[in-house]
Amino acid sequence: MKKLKFALASLLFIGLCSVVSAQPTMMKHQAKGVSCEQCHKSAAPVAAAKSKTCMQCHNYPDLAKASAEKKVALNPHDSHAGQLRCTLCHKEHQQSVVYCRQCHKNADDKRFDMTVP
Ligand code: HEC
Ligand code: HEC
Ligand code: HEC
Ligand code: HEC
Repeated sequence: MKKLKFALASLLFIGLCSVVSAQPTMMKHQAKGVSCEQCHKSAAPVAAAKSKTCMQCHNYPDLAKASAEKKVALNPHDSHAGQLRCTLCHKEHQQSVVYCRQCHKNADDKRFDMTVP
């Protein structure tokens, strides 16, 4: 019985690790006490959260200013592409992506090698 409990606990632990390691942003949100429900609007999420909910706590003007202050090569929050949906770049539960690369495919253009949290 003890062995079984240990095996189950290990499985759960490994499971949690694999989920957690794939979601850097979520760690930040969890650390700040942002609940699943605040993004998903339901206690047991069944669908992807909408970008609109991000705006309850974040907004483009402030983000654009923060990026500008970091002196990034290209401001992801203030570009000709406009106010893109946040979730095109920020993936809460998986590796985030640089959406700009959908069009700007030239790998030599290092300005687009942004690290998205
Ligand atoms: C900061 C906002 C945010 C928080 C907090 C959050 N999620 Fe999400 N969740 C998203 C976004 C955005 C997506 C869609 C993109 C993705 O998978 O990253 C998503 C997708 C999902 C999906 C997949 C739904 C589908 O069918 O596509 C599930 C399940 C889910 N979240 C569960 C959870 C649970 C459980 C928690 C709490 C532990 C949680 N989420 C916390 C934003 C959030
Ligand atoms: C209930 C409020 C709330 C909601 C809703 C919310 N966030 Fe956040 N978010 C926060 C807080 C608080 C932080 C931490 C800010 C800090 O530490 O300076 C944060 C941090 C972040 C970070 C920075 C992570 C890092 O590692 O630096 C990103 C990216 C982010 N949020 C994106 C999103 C996106 C995308 C959504 C919508 C899917 C969203 N947030 C919804 C409150 C929220
Ligand atoms: C085109 C991709 C892209 C889109 C769309 C985008 N972001 Fe970001 N975001 C980034 C990148 C790249 C960074 C890291 C560099 C920086 O801070 O500018 C970042 C950084 C952040 C941070 C951390 C800022 C800090 O103070 O450290 C937050 C919070 C954030 N984004 C939230 C959002 C929210 C909310 C939206 C939608 C309103 C959004 N982002 C839309 C690419 C994007
Ligand atoms: C739907 C396609 C598309 C998306 C998405 C897109 N762009 Fe562009 N972008 C273009 C086109 C087309 C041009 C004009 C042709 C050119 O110079 O490449 C352009 C031009 C530019 C230019 C001026 C030319 C240069 O290379 O200096 C910059 C800077 C730029 N985009 C940045 C961005 C950033 C940052 C993002 C993401 C936040 C982004 N773009 C997303 C299509 C796109």
